[in-house]
Amino acid sequence: MMNRRRFLKASLLAAAAPAALPPLVRPLLASAPKKVLVLGGTSFLGPAVVEAAVVAGHTVTLFNRGVTNPGLFPNLEKLRGFRSPEATDENFSALGERRWDAVIDVWPSDPALAETAARRLRDRTKQYLYVSSIAAYDAKDWAKPGLTEDAPLNPWDPSIRAYNRGKAESERRLNALLDGRLTVVRPGPIKGDRDTTPDLLAWLRRAQAGGAHIGPGSGEDHVQKVDVKDVARFLVLAIDRPLHGTYNLTGVPMTFREYLGQCVAVTRSDAEFVWVPQEFLHAQGLDPDPSFLGKFPSWHPEPERRGLFQISSRKAFDAGWTQRPFQETALEYLWYFDSLDPVVWSWTDELSPEAEARALKAWREASQRRTGA
Ligand SMILES: NC(=O)c1ccc[n+]([C@@H]2O[C@H](COP(=O)([O-])OP(=O)(O)OC[C@H]3O[C@@H](n4cnc5c(N)ncnc54)[C@H](OP(=O)(O)O)[C@@H]3O)[C@@H](O)[C@H]2O)c1
Repeated sequence: MMNRRRFLKASLLAAAAPAALPPLVRPLLASAPKKVLVLGGTSFLGPAVVEAAVVAGHTVTLFNRGVTNPGLFPNLEKLRGFRSPEATDENFSALGERRWDAVIDVWPSDPALAETAARRLRDRTKQYLYVSSIAAYDAKDWAKPGLTEDAPLNPWDPSIRAYNRGKAESERRLNALLDGRLTVVRPGPIKGDRDTTPDLLAWLRRAQAGGAHIGPGSGEDHVQKVDVKDVARFLVLAIDRPLHGTYNLTGVPMTFREYLGQCVAVTRSDAEFVWVPQEFLHAQGLDPDPSFLGKFPSWHPEPERRGLFQISSRKAFDAGWTQRPFQETALEYLWYFDSLDPVVWSWTDELSPEAEARALKAWREASQRRTGA
């Protein structure tokens, strides 16, 4: 018969078992805890990766200089070192002769950095994961909707933006070094907690302001955003299974109408986005900006970029990846910006309220003339 002490112990153990965890946590628990080395880990994507791996039950070690957010993860092992394209500068001595089940290289786009770390670690890990980007795809194919992982990558050509050719070249060099043990992820624009790129911020702030705002184009142009925590969860899924090869992580495309509708919904605003055709905006001196920021961030109606935000994540979804609702991403993103010290960080809309009001007034007048109202 079970005495009181054994009963209490059994109850406590049952409470600690995975079945007692809330449904969102349970699927994350790794079947076999692994030793994971994260190269980086303390800026934006890195912390999400570290958190996802720890929650999954893995033992995580970080390797970085100790410059960015050094107070993060006080309970995890941190190895200090220095990565550099110059062999005379770099310092990997803290890694010693240690071995890991998986190494995740989170951040570099310089192929020399990516290659050097992989050369040092390839014989000391069973799996190597590298965070690339959709920027690795050859821009000649950005017009095609539904791009898949086998599409051509940028050549190593100095006329191509260093980040874009660097990610492509890093992938090639790592593939040559690690063959079947490599996992590459190619995220699209990543949003969420700790994100400091104010593309989505412009739309959320306009929605928060209420009233009428320009919805650029027809509303049918596409946009893709992926949550930083979803990218992190895929990397951990890839370790747990394990999954090798290359995976786009872009999420499901949204039309701009859906995207701005979500911005209105998440800010609980009464804002209205008035759809103004591209040609009319052009006549007002308001054009999309190739930088992804500008006056209408993430709006890319250019025919040569039509497919850039319709990249297929089918392979990742088929492997078991899931995407959280965009409104959760937007809320965490907004909360992070709102938590920043306004003395240290501030933001100004590149589309001034005056210029926007002028263009909207002109559009209304032109519409009235057209309809004879
Ligand atoms: N943002 C997007 O929309 C987007 C889209 C697609 C792909 N991506 C990719 O997502 C990744 C985001 O990376 P992240 O910056 O957020 O990574 P992270 O791992 O969070 O941060 C960068 C890490 O690198 C370390 N580091 C910097 N210089 C170093 C050096 N010389 N030697 C050793 N460690 C060094 C930093 O720590 P210390 O400073 O302390 O050394 C920090 O921990 C990148 O690969 C990016 O290309 C981003």
